[in-house]
Amino acid sequence: MNQQPDWPDQVALRAVTARLAAAPPLVFADECDQLRRRLAAVARGEAFLLQGGDCAETFETTGTEAVRGKLRTLLQMAVILTYAAAVPVVKIGRMAGQYAKPRSSPVEQRDGLTLPSYRGDAVNGREFTAEARRPDPERLLRMYESSATTLNLVRALTGGGFADLRQVHDWNRGFVTGSPAGERYERLADEIEQALDFMQACGVDTRELSTADFFVGHEGLLLEYEEALTRSTESGREYATSAHFLWIGERTRALDGEHVAYFSRISNPIGVKLGPTADPDTVLALLDKLDPAREPGRLTFVVRAGADRVRDVLPTLVEKVASEGARVCWVCDPMHGNTFTAPSGHKTRRFDAVLDEVVGFTEVHHALGTHPGGIHVELTGDDVTECIGGGYEVRAEDLRHRYETACDPRLNHGQSLDLAFRLAELYRATRPA
Ligand code: TRP
Ligand code: MN
Repeated sequence: MNQQPDWPDQVALRAVTARLAAAPPLVFADECDQLRRRLAAVARGEAFLLQGGDCAETFETTGTEAVRGKLRTLLQMAVILTYAAAVPVVKIGRMAGQYAKPRSSPVEQRDGLTLPSYRGDAVNGREFTAEARRPDPERLLRMYESSATTLNLVRALTGGGFADLRQVHDWNRGFVTGSPAGERYERLADEIEQALDFMQACGVDTRELSTADFFVGHEGLLLEYEEALTRSTESGREYATSAHFLWIGERTRALDGEHVAYFSRISNPIGVKLGPTADPDTVLALLDKLDPAREPGRLTFVVRAGADRVRDVLPTLVEKVASEGARVCWVCDPMHGNTFTAPSGHKTRRFDAVLDEVVGFTEVHHALGTHPGGIHVELTGDDVTECIGGGYEVRAEDLRHRYETACDPRLNHGQSLDLAFRLAELYRATRPA
């Protein structure tokens, strides 16, 4: 099967999937339906999607601080975007299940030694030893447990004072005050403050202001895991209960492959990643398989074309899909098409390229009269140095200082907020009157 680990111990694998099949669901069908309705608003052009989190979560980084930091970053971005676009922002963490990675090669060679590639903590260990790299099905149980722990934190934090608008805005204030690019963001932050003061003066005090709606999603790569956590409702609909939202990666979206077959069965809202070489007819065939009923909110196309390609390749895709009468969400992943290796050997991305891809994506949609539905980004709440640029200007020679990712380079906390403020300017400038 495409991109599936070669589990050496099939008996152990079956014991694990049996346990998962008997375990409680992590999310419920009603929640998935609720997200589908929210995404339908994105598809209609009445909301934006913000999806973000690590490229790869690890079992070590499920601690409270790491989760809290990512969540805080996403909430801060969401407030900025909600205000600027003046429409709801649907928030999905790339979290609580993002433990498996597709690889370009099944093996890795170092100093004459050949071992299985690291496929994410769900499968094996990152350390380059035969022991660590051996796929271990017990890790699927840890994936379930880590997902449950993370989701519990997410639910507790977004349902309590942590997500209060005033609180989140105060963090944004702190960022604007400290940031070298802060002057540029000052006005927007002032306006948000005034809006909050105004609401307070009017006595607006509802749950809506103190809690945030938040969903989780990951790449649905390991079909044995997803299958074991699939549950049927009384009406006979099947749902993946590992997360609200699952997506199919660029490498596993073969039309006749197992991933497309599995995703066509489940009723969750789902995404498909599309790279710069995605052929329009294949995209239409995916649409037919995955969203035959043309249900808004069911299908999200996540385009990762690269800053230099997006303006060329996106128009045809959008036009073809629109001509089929489909209402999908179009989302920009400005990370994966802009990765390169710095002279120091670090895999990195430039903040300016990331921003430029989103700008190009938005321009294309505006030219076609369609909706640039949102962004899907790799980020962390920490001050890592993995991407170059941003307000604090991480330089290529800074990458070695704090390069911690288990996979692709992530925007750090400040770069993520820089991106949100820059997008806010963009959304605002182009907001329909
Ligand atoms: N409840 C609304 C929402 O989730 C408004 C809101 C409250 C909010 N706290 C937030 C929005 C924090 C973004 C971030 O959209
Ligand atoms: Mn990645």
